[in-house]
Formats: sequence, C-alpha cells, structure tokens
Amino acid sequence: MHVRHLSLIDFRSYPEAEVALAPGITTFVGLNGQGKTNLVEAVGYLATLGSHRVSNDAPLVRAGAEKAYIRAAVVRETHEQQLELEINPGRANRARLGRAASTRPRDILGTIRTVLFAPEDLALVKGDPSTRRQFLDDLLVARQPKWAGARSDYEKILKQRNALLKAARTGQDRGALDATLPVWDEHLATVGANLTYARLRLLRDLCPFIADAYDEVSAGQGDARLTYRSSLHVKLSDELGSGEVPPVEEIAAGMHETFDQMRRAEVERGVTLVGPHRDEVVLGLGDLPAKGYASHGESWSFALGMRLAAFQLLRTDLGTDPVLVLDDVFAELDAGRRARLAAMVGDAEQVLITAAVADDVPKALSGKRFDVVRGKVSAADGSSEGQTGPVVGNDEDAGDAIPPVPGDASVPGA
Ligand SMILES: Nc1ncnc2c1ncn2[C@@H]1O[C@H](COP(=O)(O)OP(=O)(O)OP(=O)(O)O)[C@@H](O)[C@H]1O
Ligand SMILES: [Mg+2]
Repeated sequence: MHVRHLSLIDFRSYPEAEVALAPGITTFVGLNGQGKTNLVEAVGYLATLGSHRVSNDAPLVRAGAEKAYIRAAVVRETHEQQLELEINPGRANRARLGRAASTRPRDILGTIRTVLFAPEDLALVKGDPSTRRQFLDDLLVARQPKWAGARSDYEKILKQRNALLKAARTGQDRGALDATLPVWDEHLATVGANLTYARLRLLRDLCPFIADAYDEVSAGQGDARLTYRSSLHVKLSDELGSGEVPPVEEIAAGMHETFDQMRRAEVERGVTLVGPHRDEVVLGLGDLPAKGYASHGESWSFALGMRLAAFQLLRTDLGTDPVLVLDDVFAELDAGRRARLAAMVGDAEQVLITAAVADDVPKALSGKRFDVVRGKVSAADGSSEGQTGPVVGNDEDAGDAIPPVPGDASVPGA
C-alpha cells in the first residue's frame, strides 16, 4: 500500500500542508526543526492513532489552534480510500473513512499500515520494559486491528482491579475486596491470557525475521534474540521463556494460580503484580542481554532490526507492504550499514525518509526528493508538486486530492 496524498491542517508546525506522494522512495530533506518529522509523524498517527514522539495529543495540534486534521488518500492495489482524522486534545477524536459519517478512530485502524523507525526507537533496547511491551502490542494491532479492543479492555480491567487493591490497602474496603476481587481476577485472567497468548504467537512469528534483519544490517555481527519473560509463576514462565505457546486456557489457569500466590503482596502494595502489563521482552545479542551490554551502534542496529522484522512480518501476513518510514536513520549508521539498509528496503512499495543531510542517504535510495524549509514542502526539482495546489492523481478528483465531505461545515476549507 502507499499514501498518494497527505494533507494537514494545524498539525504540529503546519497551518496547512498538501503533499503529493507516490510509490517508491521519497526523501524529505531540510535543516533541523523545519518540519520533516512532523510530516511522517502524521502518517504514522493515521496508522496507529498514536505518535512515536508523545503519548498525549496536545503537542500534535499547532500552538494556538484548537484541533488538527490529518487526511490521506491511501492506495492498496487499485483501491483508493480517503481517510480523515480530527484531533481534539482533551475530547474525543473523530475519524472518517471515505464519505461515510464520522466514526470512532479505532474503526479506521488497518486502513493504512506503517512501520516507522525513528531515533526514539533506541529506547526499544535501552529503555523501560514498557517500551518493548508497546512494540509487541502495537505490532499485534497492526497485524490484526481487533487487538486494539482487547488492549483497551485489559487497561480498563486493570485500573479497576488496582483501585480495589488500593482501597483495601488503605484499610477502607476489606470486605469489598474479598467479595469482588475474584470477579476482577476472572476478567483480568480472561483478557490477560488472550493477550499473552497473542503476544507469544506474535513473538514466535517475529523472531526469525529479527534474527535475519539484525544479521543483514550488521553483516553477521551477532545473533539477535527476543525472549518473553512472564510474570506468571516460575513453572509456566520458564515454559513461555523457552518459546512455547500453551493454550489460552492454560495461561488463564496459570494467572489464577499466580494470583493466589501473590495475593498477599498485591494487597500489601495495592497493585496488580501479575499479567501482561508486568511481562518483559528481553533482547539478547549473542550470549549477552542487549540492554546494558550492546554498544551504541549495536543498540541502534537492534532497534532497526526489530522494525525491519515488523515490516517483513506484515508484508508476509498482509500480502501488501506497509508504508515504511525511516526518520533520521542514516545519520547514525556507518557506511556499510547504510548501504545494507538501502539494499534491504529498496523494494518496499513506499518508503518515506527524512534526513537533515541529503548526502547521508545512500544514492541507491535517491527517489523523489522534497525540501522542507520552515514548514514549506516543495519538490526539489522545482515543480510545484508537493506544495499547496493541484495533485497529479489517478482519479477524477485530481485538483482536490481529498474531497471535503459535502455539507460538513466542521471541515475547515470545506
Ligand atoms: N504543536 C506545535 N505547534 C507549533 N509548532 C510545533 C508544534 N510541535 C512542534 N512544533 C515545531 O516543529 C518543529 C519540529 O519539527 P520536526 O520535528 O518535524 O523537525 P525536523 O525537520 O524533523 O528536524 P530534525 O532534523 O531536527 O529532526 C520545531 O521547530 C517545533 O517547535
Ligand atoms: Mg526530525
């Protein structure tokens, strides 16, 4: 799949932007702070409903504006779909698919898939376990959007269960704890076991791609591995750690057993200590853990390998390439790694690259280039493409890439 057109209103530094895109390689070049990452962040947001840089929406809306719009025309094989997202910090966001009435943002998940690699991804190797959990869960959703629901259900149940434990710890509600905790145990074990099972399956499918991707990026400098470290009792977590994927019922039973073992500690601390939110994915390089041992370059390559593996997995699964975004990746790589990365991604349907220094991007990936200067995006060959104006498209709507929905006064410019 690829994005044929991207349109922004009040997103980040852009009061307005219209960018006509094409399959193949596109490079956005410009000095620091000119708005390159803002563009690709918008594409990523449409795919994941989240930013790779911030966890809340407020910074995504241009300072002084109330809401932001991201619109894109997405082509999968010969089918084109128009997508629109309205970002309202502090209130519910709205989404629209084609000319249909607005819908929950979650309902547009899957329309566009992206794999985005950015400097922030170094945290996959060096950061907290939560970063690696999020990597897995995001990939789960990219693969099958239905997991977005399970994820949010789990969060809600966990919150309730934690509230109950906390109330019991402060001694307010001991009776309520005995009466209602088993109910929350059951909910958490049901959803949690499904989530754990899905993660294990995903990991099993992903690992071969990670080993290959790291091997290619680093030219055979080590074996990259991912191991699941579960918060379940020792016997079961050993099993999961060795790559086994037991049936969901067995994982759910294991969660109940572990709740029993941990009851006292949970009540003492007032938090849930068992479940996928406490699990870890351990990265290993050769015989050593990556965290705390890998060099800067190795860590960078490992993180890149994880993203490239995600790309390969989705490509295999979906039968179409996700849009690959490489934000600022080349500056950090040595010449050999740059060339090998270029060879690995050259055949992807669409690759969006940002770079402060054009020469950092290997010649093999030259493709189409846009210059980004103070929020103006212009084709480097001097044509007007990329600026506000007509879009050279393959449909009758050329000239108005993303037609506003008739009669919708809430769409600025409509
Ligand atoms: N909500 C916002 N409102 C206004 N401006 C914003 C907002 N969020 C970010 N910016 C501005 O956008 C600019 C950053 O843009 P971006 O991150 O895309 O830069 P970049 O071209 O990728 O730079 P670099 O090469 O350093 O990565 C900054 O100048 C920042 O102040
Ligand atoms: Mg940037």
